[in-house]
Amino acid sequence: MKLKDLYIDFFLSKNHKQIPSSPVVPENDNTVLFNTAGMQPLTPYLKGETHPLGKRLVDYQKCVRTNDLDAVGDTTHHTFFEMLGNWSLGDYFKKESISWSFEFLTEVLNIPIEKLAVTVFAGNELVPRDDESAEIWKSLGIPEERISFLGVDDNWWPNMEMHGPCGPDTEIFYWRSLDPVPAKHDPDDDRWVEIWNNVFMQYNHDEKGFIPLEHQNVDTGMGVERTTAILEGVTDNYISSIFKPYISLIEQYSGKKYENEYMPSMRIIADHIRAITIIIGENSGVKPSNTDQGYIVRRLLRRAIRHENKLGINVDGDFLSKMVNAIIDDYKVYYPELETNRENTLNIIEAEKNKFTRTLEKGLKEFNKVVSCANGEISGETAFHLYDTFGFPIELTVELAAEKSLKVDEKGFEKKFKAHQELSRAGAEGKFKSGLAGTGEIETRYHTATHLLNAALKVVLEDENIHQMGSNITEERMRFDFNFDRKLTDEEKTKIEDLINSWIEADLQVTKEEMNKNDAVKSGAEAMFIEKYPDMVTVYTIGDVSKEICTGPHVTHTKELNHFKIKKEEASSAGVRRIKAILD
Ligand code: ALA
Repeated sequence: MKLKDLYIDFFLSKNHKQIPSSPVVPENDNTVLFNTAGMQPLTPYLKGETHPLGKRLVDYQKCVRTNDLDAVGDTTHHTFFEMLGNWSLGDYFKKESISWSFEFLTEVLNIPIEKLAVTVFAGNELVPRDDESAEIWKSLGIPEERISFLGVDDNWWPNMEMHGPCGPDTEIFYWRSLDPVPAKHDPDDDRWVEIWNNVFMQYNHDEKGFIPLEHQNVDTGMGVERTTAILEGVTDNYISSIFKPYISLIEQYSGKKYENEYMPSMRIIADHIRAITIIIGENSGVKPSNTDQGYIVRRLLRRAIRHENKLGINVDGDFLSKMVNAIIDDYKVYYPELETNRENTLNIIEAEKNKFTRTLEKGLKEFNKVVSCANGEISGETAFHLYDTFGFPIELTVELAAEKSLKVDEKGFEKKFKAHQELSRAGAEGKFKSGLAGTGEIETRYHTATHLLNAALKVVLEDENIHQMGSNITEERMRFDFNFDRKLTDEEKTKIEDLINSWIEADLQVTKEEMNKNDAVKSGAEAMFIEKYPDMVTVYTIGDVSKEICTGPHVTHTKELNHFKIKKEEASSAGVRRIKAILD
């Protein structure tokens, strides 16, 4: 049985309910590009909302992290990865959480206790030293020398800066080496690798500080790729059973062995193609583009293609489609949408490949030409030329330059880039860095406003088939994408504003109800990704104007929104319009 199945079964046996993986492109939290941890889609529940499936949950969650792309190519980093997690929403706490982790590791995975060590929180001004967790570990047989007390940098999740639910944690480490296991745990010895993180969420961090949560929660996370490699006794994730078939395919098509200087390129190809297949293959409709998730997908694919070229793989051949099909075949059991969207995924990837491979050779030639006369640095102008004419994302030029020990004038590139009024990818990256969901008061008001806008569009444009295609909320504004095939007139925009403001004025009540998914749909509730919801869902109703399946949070009365104003209406992509609006 696979690790994922063992994990889910184990926690089901401890009375947890399994929830489906949320899409990796967040549905209702559009302040981040991707889900980066299992808990992220559960943020509202960790902050106190009632979860329709109860207080004990377990899942495997698709995650994507792009803040460390340069590190991909080593033995352990990935853009896409799966995180196993179990949660207590105000139910069990340290004792059960630690004991069950220990039982799963030693009795289900059969990891010898001699190979385990743990860290616990050393204490700070908010939370005292976690002697309780240390005592529980000792009672389970972990010797004192294998328990390290560490500070906020190591044993606080996510960190002291980010907003959202947080707290001290205890981390479990495995001795991944053939060297004899030392009696004492040394946190600086990287032969000890972290395999599981149990967070005791006691606070919500917002602009007011660390506010104790009404309920104490447990949030845990275990990386599937790393733990699988450990269980299979390999020190390189890319030779574990997860990646082996992809590496073999790359070997076959390149005629090279997975060894020496070829390893980084092979890992990059396997990792990046897996990530884009999963991202494009879900129902959120992401495609390669120059902004947000689309830009990440474009960068990953073009980087992978460049490494294929480097390894001597024929980039015009069928290698990519073979890889994508192999990945879909492996993951479709867990993420059935991959099968439904197979053709579409293959088409999108093929189209982007064709676009890029047409110019790749010429671009590389051009690059080699400029390298021969570069004086330690490639100018911003040249980098922009490579981008504009040959489709080289700046990161690709930087990577190519680094291989020749050259730098790129990235600032100069940015200047040129902005001058050409391209949509800035800085937005995308900034958003990613902002980390966890912003669900402060302002974002909550905007969130409710998206429901009103969704309803008002249907009324004013007299089209029941208009739906939300995406949205993004910051403290300053909201952005809302919807399917419609022409520009709105000024009159329509004014009508939409007036209608929403009349609803705000009427101070409609916002109510929340938990119900069976099918009943929710029958009752006419809007749903963005119906097939991804658990059987029980939360439905938010605003007066008699709106009803949507959503995780919240929302205001309780519409007057809290004050006043709604459209700032801009524009095309987003074919058949999709985008409205930017503010509450003032
Ligand atoms: N949320 C915790 C993590 O991602 C469990 O490590």
